[in-house]
Amino acid sequence: MALSWLLVLLAVTSTTLGTNPGVTVRLTNKGLQYGKQLGIAALQEKLKSVQIPDFSGSQRVSPIGKVKYSLTNIRLVNVGLPRSAVDLVPGTGVRLTIGEAFMNLHGNWRVKYLRIIKDSGSFDVSVNGLTISTVIAVKSDAAGRPVVSNTNCVANVASAKVKFHGGASWLYNLFSKFINKALRNALQKQICPLVDKTVIGLNPKLQTLNVLAKVDKYAEIEYSMTSSPVISQSSLELNLKGEFYNIGKHQEPPFTPAAFSLPSENNNMLYMALSAFTANSAGFVYNKAGILSLYVTDDMVPKASPFRLDTKTFGVFIPQIAKQFPGLKMKLLVRTDKNPTITFQPNKATVEATGTVTAYAIQTNGTLSPLFVLNLETSVSADMFVRGLNVGGRLTLNQMKLSVGTSYVGEFSVGVLDSVLRTVLKLVVIPIVNVQLDKGYPLPALGKMNLVNPQLRIMKDYMLIGTDVQFTS
Ligand SMILES: *[C@@H]1O[C@H](CO)[C@@H](O)[C@H](O)[C@H]1NC(C)=O
Repeated sequence: MALSWLLVLLAVTSTTLGTNPGVTVRLTNKGLQYGKQLGIAALQEKLKSVQIPDFSGSQRVSPIGKVKYSLTNIRLVNVGLPRSAVDLVPGTGVRLTIGEAFMNLHGNWRVKYLRIIKDSGSFDVSVNGLTISTVIAVKSDAAGRPVVSNTNCVANVASAKVKFHGGASWLYNLFSKFINKALRNALQKQICPLVDKTVIGLNPKLQTLNVLAKVDKYAEIEYSMTSSPVISQSSLELNLKGEFYNIGKHQEPPFTPAAFSLPSENNNMLYMALSAFTANSAGFVYNKAGILSLYVTDDMVPKASPFRLDTKTFGVFIPQIAKQFPGLKMKLLVRTDKNPTITFQPNKATVEATGTVTAYAIQTNGTLSPLFVLNLETSVSADMFVRGLNVGGRLTLNQMKLSVGTSYVGEFSVGVLDSVLRTVLKLVVIPIVNVQLDKGYPLPALGKMNLVNPQLRIMKDYMLIGTDVQFTS
């Protein structure tokens, strides 16, 4: 009994831990206002498709008698949405309110009375004081992409004024009575479905969220939402998985994201927080893929280097090498033996990597003769940057610690190799890693989104990108 409770507790605890997002994206009020601009433009386009049906009927008018009438070919000539507002509804989504909207319509009228008299002309209608309010719910779909739906749409038309061209004035009174009501009804019925269509029309765009962003031939990043958005009075936050995976072979690393929360800033439209977990999941994937290793040969050492990668140079520090392997080139195999780990401290990103350096003499027949294996502990600092929709980095060596793992050339003091190894790391290994890091890693993004003036800061346990955005449609 006690055991089963413990198991339940463990299960609950581990799922709770697992639900921390690796990446959080915050939309601020400024971002919401930009979204409103785009949304209102789309809605205005959509409202142009309102269709007013033809009216026809007959009416008894004294002293003339029965008047047959028809109003046809009523079409929208103009629609304006001069005043609109959006705000957040905590826990639900976004409220959109539109006031003082107007529409202008034009149509034709035709009457027949006293059996033989026919008359016709045109008319204009101006619809004023149109109000629309709706709440747009934001949720996560099954694939972890944001999805919106329209709830509680209410549309109201305050007045419709009709102006007739041609015909007798008594006709105007006849039409005005019901045309006002009929138009208002027709419009009120059509506006909310059109608002609905506009809102639903956002979903294909939202579905372009790169829930699985390809990085290279080894890795992809999962950016699916881990929960419904967290909506407060001041922001809408998307919690994303933010985890690197081996392409096609998703395997969880032996660590989980720590909880972190964003500072309460709202100068930018968007804030993206990428946790140390996200970066470390990359280290896990690449280490697992066995690609965090590199053969260093003499041709990779710059001409200007104070030494060559040969047994002459190393023979100066370890005479046994010069004696046993005279006049040979050398090769170093540098590789990690554990996942490199990145830590984010305010204004400081540090990568700790441990590994080994195996040195070989290259025999004239090509055979590699092992000379020694060194254990290597390095600490490098990382400058992170945003370029386009990618985040990249640049490493510089801080510290390096060596110890002898195995020697095939007798005992030696590792201190003598310190400067040579440091130079190899600085001039060969780190520049090669930097070429990779410079290519960058895709950030979470929607369709044709561009970042405008992004700023990156390192915070405790995450890096924060504050940015404005622009969509090119
Ligand atoms: C290559 O040369 C080394 C040193 O002369 C020798 O020990 C080794 O057997 C040679 N290997 C082959 C495959 O010929």
